[in-house]
Amino acid sequence: MDNKHFYITTPIYYPSGKLHIGHAYCTVATDAMARYKRLCGYDVMFLTGTDEHGQKIEDKAKEAGVTPQQFVDNIVAAPGGVLDLWKLMNVSYDRFIRTTDEYHVAAIQKIFKKMYGNGDIYKGSYKGKYCKPCESFWTESQLVDGKCPDCGREVVDAEEEAYFFRASKYAGRVRDLLLNTDFLEPKSRVNEMVNNFIDCEGGLQDLCVSRTSFTWGVPVGFDPGHVVYVWLDALFNYMTALGYQNGKYNDLEKFWPADVHFVGKEIVRFHAIYWPAFLMSLDLPLPKKVYGHGWLNFNGDKMSKSKGNVVDPHLLSERYGVDALRFFLLRTFPFGSDGNFTNELLIQTINTDLANDLGNLVSRTTAMAEKYFGGRLPEARQTNPELDEGLIAQVSALRDQYEGQMEKYQFQNALELVFKAVQRANKYIDENAPWALAKDMEANGTRLGTVLYHLLETVRICTILLTPFMPESCEKIFQQTGADASCQTWDSAAEWGVLPAGVTVRKGENLFPRIDMAQELEELGRIQEEAKKAALPAVAIEPQLEEKVDFETFCKSDFRAVKVKDCQRVKKSDKLLKFTLDDGTGTDRQILSGIAKWYNPEDLIGKTLIAIVNLPPRKMMGQESQGMLISAVHTEKGEEALNLLMVDDKIPAGAKLC
Ligand code: MSP
Repeated sequence: MDNKHFYITTPIYYPSGKLHIGHAYCTVATDAMARYKRLCGYDVMFLTGTDEHGQKIEDKAKEAGVTPQQFVDNIVAAPGGVLDLWKLMNVSYDRFIRTTDEYHVAAIQKIFKKMYGNGDIYKGSYKGKYCKPCESFWTESQLVDGKCPDCGREVVDAEEEAYFFRASKYAGRVRDLLLNTDFLEPKSRVNEMVNNFIDCEGGLQDLCVSRTSFTWGVPVGFDPGHVVYVWLDALFNYMTALGYQNGKYNDLEKFWPADVHFVGKEIVRFHAIYWPAFLMSLDLPLPKKVYGHGWLNFNGDKMSKSKGNVVDPHLLSERYGVDALRFFLLRTFPFGSDGNFTNELLIQTINTDLANDLGNLVSRTTAMAEKYFGGRLPEARQTNPELDEGLIAQVSALRDQYEGQMEKYQFQNALELVFKAVQRANKYIDENAPWALAKDMEANGTRLGTVLYHLLETVRICTILLTPFMPESCEKIFQQTGADASCQTWDSAAEWGVLPAGVTVRKGENLFPRIDMAQELEELGRIQEEAKKAALPAVAIEPQLEEKVDFETFCKSDFRAVKVKDCQRVKKSDKLLKFTLDDGTGTDRQILSGIAKWYNPEDLIGKTLIAIVNLPPRKMMGQESQGMLISAVHTEKGEEALNLLMVDDKIPAGAKLC
């Protein structure tokens, strides 16, 4: 039974902004693979999730004025966020892990301690070049033109006390794994890894696995100033999500080692070098395979939010349907290589494969079954070897050939085989000219019925094999062609003649309408240009309440009613107003407030306001401010608006608020 389990993973995503079609690429491929394996009868575990720690997230949260936890909570669940996109793309994951999940955090602490305990993690000090966005330290020799070799951005000098993982100890075993097994695919990625990171000058370097320069991470349990390096934290998700070092799950025996990790090419280094080395250190079985897929570019350029050329999966699936988009991604680009996304290619693929070939085959066949046989599938009683054998042989051999390609993750080739069969069936229609046969039903009715049966049987088998790629559309095709569950199985895809005569065939909705290329290109171009201008807004951050403070701390804040004795603009500042206030002490209090945009100074004289009076004084434009006036800040017609808190004039100056 053991071989009937299949464990597949995607990378866990950084919840740092809106995801684009490049992000969806890997997850859609993983989904197609998971669905295919389920179809073959495997008990599948498809894991995905989010990688939520690290300096990048800490910085972004600060920018948004929320805590890192609030930031990631929002963005994971927000419209356009990870969960939303996977739902839209019909991604059938079995488990979703967040690296901030308590069970994962606790497990990472144990793992770190174990590796420290066995001597593979030791304390040292790190001096090197640091790429902040990638959260990677590099040696001088690894830099490309003095910049980060992964992302090409500036690096900075950095030094910190840190823990190191003895990667060097495992260099030989990892090298052997890469060169002498099928662990890493496609093979083209192997040499790059070995040459650049193992057989390079100085050999495989020990890896810095803790940080002290920020706090948003898993704390090293026995040395609280340190947080665990985000990649060690993230890579172990593949095992903690099955229950490694935690009691939340109990699936290790069933699913570990993973059958395959699908990852993008720029993170192959972490998965093919450090991940096996970590596992070797803990004496754990290694995953069977890491598959490094290529990148999707847009019009020949790297997709990037800052360039404003990211392709929005929401927009495309709204216009063409989710299945068409899923299909396009896996039909057009060989999984192991880079692909160039263009709008033309997308529309052309939809028109050629889906509208012309598949859509036409289904609609012509079902329409003829309705028209000539009242929607009842006839029997195949009059075969004509010369006309039929080619089609039947091709379609009967299809499943096994398809399987061969799917097992190698060659989605493009698997789909090519199916579409060869679809095209063959369309040709079969022309060769048999059913409309001519239909002119004399008495003489040719049996042959016509046979032709239709062969066509519907071809549609059935092709539809089974397309289900992992286009689940919803295939479901509709099964309904239109009368194929019930027993005619949708993997076994039945290798058998000709399973669809029982007599089932009801109905011409339904047109599943893949043809798109007017010129008109659509213009429209899409316009929309994408607009989005570029707007530089794709990030996922909206919901308003959040501040972090909690304890009661005692709160009580230390001294809020008082104050009366405005005088108010004037501060010279050379278009923001500041200077208030002279009666705070009930007998001595005037001066407060500066950046509210000139909303108030005329003279309108405020005589008003009773609220101020916090025990803040340390600070200088603004060379003048001292002794506290802060309290206002309500909100948004009005998309603009920031502000109202000073004014209270009843009967409240005396100096009255304490509590
Ligand atoms: N958090 C890490 C993964 C940790 S796995 C233990 C990460 N996250 S990511 O959000 O930046 O990227 C997730 C995946 O999206 C990566 O595999 C990356 O290669 C992929 N892609 C991002 N842009 C892409 C394209 N334009 N094309 C194809 N895949 C790309 O890396």
